[in-house]
Amino acid sequence: MFLRCFTCDARFGNEPTLYSCRKCDNPLEVVYEDLEFARAVAFEGKGVWRYQPLLPIPKAVTLGEGDTGLHRCDRAAKDLGVPHLFVKNEGENPTGSFKDRGMTVGIAMAKAAGARAVGCASTGNTSASMAAYAARAGLAALVLLPAGKVALGKLSQAIAHGAKIAQVEGNFDDAMRLVVELSVQERSVYLLNSLNPYRLEGQKTLAFEVCEALGDAPDAVVLPMGNAGNISAIWKGFLEWKRLGRISRLPRMIGVQAEKAAPIARAWMTKAEYQTVAHPETLATAIRIGAPVSWRKAMAALQDSGGDAGTVTDDEILEAQQYLARTEGLFVEPASAVPIAFLMKRRLKLDGLKTVVCVTTGHGLKDPDALSKAPVRMQQVKPTLEAIRKVLDG
Ligand code: F0G
Repeated sequence: MFLRCFTCDARFGNEPTLYSCRKCDNPLEVVYEDLEFARAVAFEGKGVWRYQPLLPIPKAVTLGEGDTGLHRCDRAAKDLGVPHLFVKNEGENPTGSFKDRGMTVGIAMAKAAGARAVGCASTGNTSASMAAYAARAGLAALVLLPAGKVALGKLSQAIAHGAKIAQVEGNFDDAMRLVVELSVQERSVYLLNSLNPYRLEGQKTLAFEVCEALGDAPDAVVLPMGNAGNISAIWKGFLEWKRLGRISRLPRMIGVQAEKAAPIARAWMTKAEYQTVAHPETLATAIRIGAPVSWRKAMAALQDSGGDAGTVTDDEILEAQQYLARTEGLFVEPASAVPIAFLMKRRLKLDGLKTVVCVTTGHGLKDPDALSKAPVRMQQVKPTLEAIRKVLDG
């Protein structure tokens, strides 16, 4: 196993505290020289750690991450014109988001590196997950959050798990810059953002689970992009599963961003040079990011998979969130409704796409305020049957 720079191809040994290329400072990825040994492996156990032979380290702490539901959504499939639609519901992870898959691996690396404290910048979910796993591992946690822009559920989690919380007067991108300085120059915390290539190894297991459940790769995977670690990790998972001969084909990767926080989707759609967004805005605060760290990896995933990228508006996101909750019983946070919004607007070219998997990245309870704009079907009534019958008929 070694680390490879995704941009300049420089190679480095297995170094838990190397977060970016020594030559060009761009993100790294974990490469397994020889996957042959894993062809014959019978993966055993549950969740993320079932795939330990394809992970960089043995298990240190776990909360039971992975093994999330892959829900067949026939009613939505019919409405949206997709032959076979599945939702991989990552809100079913222990802290309510996909981040737990990566965090269980990242925390094992932190322990192996002898760290006493871990740190991250976050729009909320990474901080919630890191705080929980740090508590479980007996490590101190420092989280840098964009002040006033983190959903209440996520903030409560970081508070409950005892993280030190800095509310940075700036956006996620400012917080990210600061935590990189803290972890790289000052070495005061072990960095657990998705810039950490080992954390992404945990996140790739979503691809393995989907392939095992469906018996092969789906035709397309649709997911939200923020800092763009997840699309990169999941694509890497499909590539490795294919190298192992466990699937016959690869899916198209389809990344969706919020209209006013869409540096990657914009570059993709306009075929112009990639440019960061100085003031990203969206009510889907999880993906309110203007300078995604893994943009190059995401672009490669879109390109190499024959995929696509697009944007949706905040109104479309809210509509999709309620649609999924009411049609299929799946309550996801706004950022997670982005793939459904993309399908609802028929922005996905469906030619040849029979089996589509939407990844819903976080639970709806993370961000209860998001529904404050929804029409409310709730009334206060007198404690009489007559009053309640009126509600029923109304
Ligand atoms: N969906 C949710 C619910 C998220 O929390 C995030 C990212 C994403 C999608 C996008 O994933 O960054 O890998 O492209 N949340 C990060 C955080 C940034 O700090 O919690 P990505």
